[in-house]
Amino acid sequence: MIEFQDRVAVVTGGGRGLGRAHALLLASRGAAVVVNDLGGATDGTAASKGPADEVVDEIGSAGGVAVADYHSVADSEGGEAIIATALEQFGRIDIVVNNAGILRDRTFSNLEWPDLDAVLDVHLRGAFFVTRPAFLHMKEQGYGRIVVTSSNAGILGNFGQTNYAAAKMGLVGLMNVLKLEGAKYGIKANAIAPVARTRMTEDLLGPLADKLDPSQVAPVVAYLCSEACPFSGEVWSVGGGSVSRFFVGLTDGYFKHPDKAGPLTVEDVADNITAIRDEEGYIVPYSIQDELTKLGPKLFG
Ligand code: NAI
Repeated sequence: MIEFQDRVAVVTGGGRGLGRAHALLLASRGAAVVVNDLGGATDGTAASKGPADEVVDEIGSAGGVAVADYHSVADSEGGEAIIATALEQFGRIDIVVNNAGILRDRTFSNLEWPDLDAVLDVHLRGAFFVTRPAFLHMKEQGYGRIVVTSSNAGILGNFGQTNYAAAKMGLVGLMNVLKLEGAKYGIKANAIAPVARTRMTEDLLGPLADKLDPSQVAPVVAYLCSEACPFSGEVWSVGGGSVSRFFVGLTDGYFKHPDKAGPLTVEDVADNITAIRDEEGYIVPYSIQDELTKLGPKLFG
């Protein structure tokens, strides 16, 4: 049984959709939860205390422990305040689920800069602002779990979502470095790429929508936030009962020894496209060292 007794969690955007499901599940397993939610519209405008309050009430009625926080994640003061709420109310911070999100979809040609700023501010910069103050405490206590919410729109691309896709892949970059900087302090950082029916997606999912309840994503977040999780630096695709792993593979590729065969030419690249792109024998590097370790023997072996 995976439980969270004596653990304190912050779930950003916890008032609705996926964040609500994460908060309810973590609380039902014993975590004290800060349900953060600005309570705005899908495009990030407006604000309301209702969504966070409702989830806190729901958790309380079920016998769990939670407090509401209404700050925006999109500036550093908000991020500090959210983590301060956890520390003041519950005395520690063990888990951060960066989930708050908005949409400002436009084709690249029509993208207006305020729509770029708003999306980067909430998804990407917001994760920095909330996670950093928590990370400092996690380092001191020698334990922490961080989850960022990426998206297949970033990992694979989605028409009309350059701002959102860039923010979502930016989160993978943030997570990749946190996995390294947090490793010796017992801090693990992972990403999910969820698919779920929420107000953000209900018009887009067609016949799949009925099968994609957010409660089908929350167990994966809870696992990644648990002591039982030994992984760090992974990106998991989650939805409708399915859990898989996205990974970055490095093909064996083409190699021309610069000392023995002369410098690489443009024609070498053009003539060896098949080898460069061949997926046979790829590796899944964990770090830059893994990538370079592959090159070393070719140069010196
Ligand atoms: P949602 O709109 O139901 O929930 C997002 C919540 O974030 C809202 O309650 C909103 O008030 C809150 N929020 C927005 N800006 C905020 C801010 N500045 N500070 C604090 N809270 C803020 O949408 P959903 O689908 O639950 O999205 C959750 C996360 O999952 C988002 O990051 C989204 O991009 C991501 N995601 C969702 C997918 C899906 O299929 N639903 C697919 C891929 C990613």
